[in-house]
This record gives sequence, C-alpha cells and structure tokens, in this order.
Amino acid sequence: MGPFSTMSGKHFYVTTPIYYANDRPHIGHAYTTLLADVLARYHRLLGYDVFFLTGTDEHGQKVEQAARKRGVSPEEHVKEYHRRFKDLWQRLGIEYDYFIRTTDKDHKEFVQKCLQQLYDRGEIVLREYEGWYSVSEERFFQEDELVDGKDPVGHKAVEWISEKNYFFLMSKYQKRLLAHIEGNADFIQPESRRNEVLGFLRQPLGDLCISRPRTRLAWGISLPFDPDFVTYVWFDALLNYESAVAARCYPDGSPLWPATYHLLGKDILTTHSVYWPTILMALGHPLPQHIFAHGWWLSKGAKQSKSSGNAVDPLGYVDEYGVDAVRYFLLRDMVLGQDASFSEEQFKERINSDLANDLGNALQRVHVFLIRSLGGKVPLPPAQSGADESDLKAFTEESISRVKELILNLRLSPALEAVTEMVRRVNRYLEKRAPWQVAKDRDLQEELNTILFTAAEALRC
Ligand code: MSP
Repeated sequence: MGPFSTMSGKHFYVTTPIYYANDRPHIGHAYTTLLADVLARYHRLLGYDVFFLTGTDEHGQKVEQAARKRGVSPEEHVKEYHRRFKDLWQRLGIEYDYFIRTTDKDHKEFVQKCLQQLYDRGEIVLREYEGWYSVSEERFFQEDELVDGKDPVGHKAVEWISEKNYFFLMSKYQKRLLAHIEGNADFIQPESRRNEVLGFLRQPLGDLCISRPRTRLAWGISLPFDPDFVTYVWFDALLNYESAVAARCYPDGSPLWPATYHLLGKDILTTHSVYWPTILMALGHPLPQHIFAHGWWLSKGAKQSKSSGNAVDPLGYVDEYGVDAVRYFLLRDMVLGQDASFSEEQFKERINSDLANDLGNALQRVHVFLIRSLGGKVPLPPAQSGADESDLKAFTEESISRVKELILNLRLSPALEAVTEMVRRVNRYLEKRAPWQVAKDRDLQEELNTILFTAAEALRC
C-alpha cells in the first residue's frame, strides 16, 4: 500500500467563511477558499470522505446599502453579486461540494427554527439597549472598546443608538466556553489566536444582540416570534455551517455536523470562537472540532480591502500567469498565523525561482531525454541501482511523510518548501549523474534508463 492508500471511516468537513455579496472578491477572499480547497483535495487523496462548503452572506446592512447605492433591490443585487464568487472559484480550480447562499429557503427556515427553540427555552429575551453601533462591522461596541472614538476593527465612525432588541444570553456560557478552550488545545489554531481568545474571555462576557428593528434594517430573516425585527446578520450567517449539511450525511450514513475545520481570517475570530460556540451550546449541538484563523494579505502595508482601494483582483494574475502560479504563490508566501504582503515583484520572483527555474528545469531535463532517447516512455524500474539512486529514493519517501504531516497541521508554506527542496535534489541528482554524458555512449543504455527512471519517479512523487 502506498502513502495514499484508502482509509475508511475518516471524515473531513471543511468550511470557508461565507463572503459578503457586496463586493468584488480579492486575494484575501481567494486565500481562505484556496486553503480549504487544498485541504479538501489532500484529504480526498488520503481516502477521507470530504465535504467542502463555501458560499455567500447575503443579508444585513452592508448588502442592503450596496444594493441601494446601485439602485437595485437587495434580491436583484445578491442574485448578481454571488455569481462573482462562483465565477472566481471556477477560474481558480476550486472544487467545493456545496455553495450556500443565506437567502436560500432551507437556510432561512433552519435559522428560524433555531431562533424559536432558543426563544422558547428563555435563551433569547427582549431588552432596552443603548450602545455604539458600527455600520461597517454590523455590531455594537462598548465605550472602552473604541479606539479614538472609532470602531477598533475597521476604524470607522460609530453612532450612538438606543432601541429595544432581542438578546441571546451569551454570558451564561462564558465559563463553559473557557473550559472547552482550555481543555482542547487544538480547538482554536494557531496558538497565538487561541491565547487572544483566552485573553478576551478573561474579561466579563456580555450578552449578544441578535435582532435589528425592521424600521432600521429590512433586509434580513424575520424573527419568528416578533415580525417587527429581523435577525442580526452574524447570527444568521454562522448558522450556515450547520444548515448547509442538516439534510446531508457522509456515505456511511453518519451526520456531517460537527465540522472538522472552520477556516477564517483573524478579523472574524471572535464571532467564530465566542459567538458561534455559545450559540451551539445553547442549542445543545456539538461544537466544531477546529477553528483556524490565518493572517491578512496586505498590499502597500495595509490589509487588502475594497474600501482601502488596495485590493488585488486575482483574475488579472490568473489571466497573465496561469492558475497554478497564483495558487502556488498564495499558499507558499503566507506563513501560518502571520500577515503576508502581495506585490507583483514578489509574485514574479517566487514564480521564477521555484517554478520556472527549479521545477521547470527538472521537468524539462527529464522530459527531453525521455523523448529523445526513449521515445517518450518512462523506463521500467532498474533491477539494481547505486547509492545516488537509493539516496534520492529515501529522500523522496521522507519528503512525502514530512509534507503529509505539515499539511495535516495546516502548515502549507513549509510543505511547499519541502516539495521545492525535493525538486532541487532531483536537479542535483541529474547534475551528478549527467544523463547528457551517459546518452552519448550506446553501451550505457541501461545506466541511462536507471537515471531517467529514478528522476522521473521522484518528480512523479
Ligand atoms: N460575511 C462575513 C463572514 C461570515 S462567516 C459565517 C465576512 N465576510 S468578508 O467577505 O468580509 O470576509 C470573508 C473572509 O475574507 C474573512 O475570513 C476575512 O478574514 C477574509 N479576508 C478579507 N480580507 C482579507 C485580507 N486582506 N487578507 C486575508 N483575508 C481577509 O467577514
């Protein structure tokens, strides 16, 4: 059995955040989805039953405002804009299993069912509320959370709002959540993000406002117990991870929920690692196994976003350099947990050195000789071979297990580094064994076969 033999009973359910359908997707959005795609493909290769979910977040103030600005209804707006994500995923070779839209009927019904359950059990209550509200973050902030009078995440203006609203009694679950995070070291990854959440949970946790008065925001899912309100967009959005799979199961009949991995950017860590698990606790549903938050793609020193005007459109790069180059660069240049910067110079440098020079060279050398000397066929494995061959074979095997361990720990950049190192070994092997010399002597055909088989086999692996 090879390293990729089938294992039965292994399940892998991976999600990306659902993207706001208000914008053109950029490199930051592409990255999370690419990460999910690579993990999904790799687990399929290892014989896991895989489910890969992505989609669009279509309710709330941001989307409503984007529609109004364009002079169309929110329905028309999301119908058109969610396509941008689907189209980009197709161009990037993303093979998801399901694309959820929060305006789907099934999703809306699922959200309403959960709201009603929580309301009936007294987990959701009506309260008078005052606070600083950020339109761009779509949430309230406490006075002491503001930075220079602005919201601490997007640094946008906040407004003082006083109104009646429904609250989910999140504070009740603070201790249980803390215990869960402390008892499960790999629940929130990487460790720096876990520490951040633990720090946050050492402060008293408030309750969560889960409604918006319809007079202020009409574009959302109606509260089943009070039609004057719609559901807060985050409460609606987080439930997508469960609603999408409620009516599905793995081929062996077991349920898809809970997810194995939620992948997300660090800006939405609190919603995923505090709001979401406490909502699930109140519902009595199991928690996701792992939450992994990556850093940001910066350009010109700032987080890429439409509002900063520094967003890079991945499609331009796909057109110019090809999809594999774009996928390679994004996964190679962001190191676990850190921010990474994107510039065309860095992109070209990386692609030229790793792909054109190292990999291109190795493939080209082997390919040319296979065509020229062996009619394009890879020779059979040699009966006997020397120390150089055994070394390369051993290094290949070590690399495969190393890459496997790294990928399973979501360390994709070092995994690709290990692959590149392997490619360099092939080049060194070829330089040492010099097939271009050996090919000159007809008596050395067997030696040439050995060299070409060994190099081709290493490249195949
Ligand atoms: N709709 C919410 C998520 C709801 S999930 C239940 C949302 N959408 S978003 O479109 O604004 O962002 C989606 C993802 O893109 C987040 O993981 C975010 O971190 C990521 N990125 C957006 N800009 C980014 C960068 N510049 N760099 C890396 N990822 C960033 O939040």
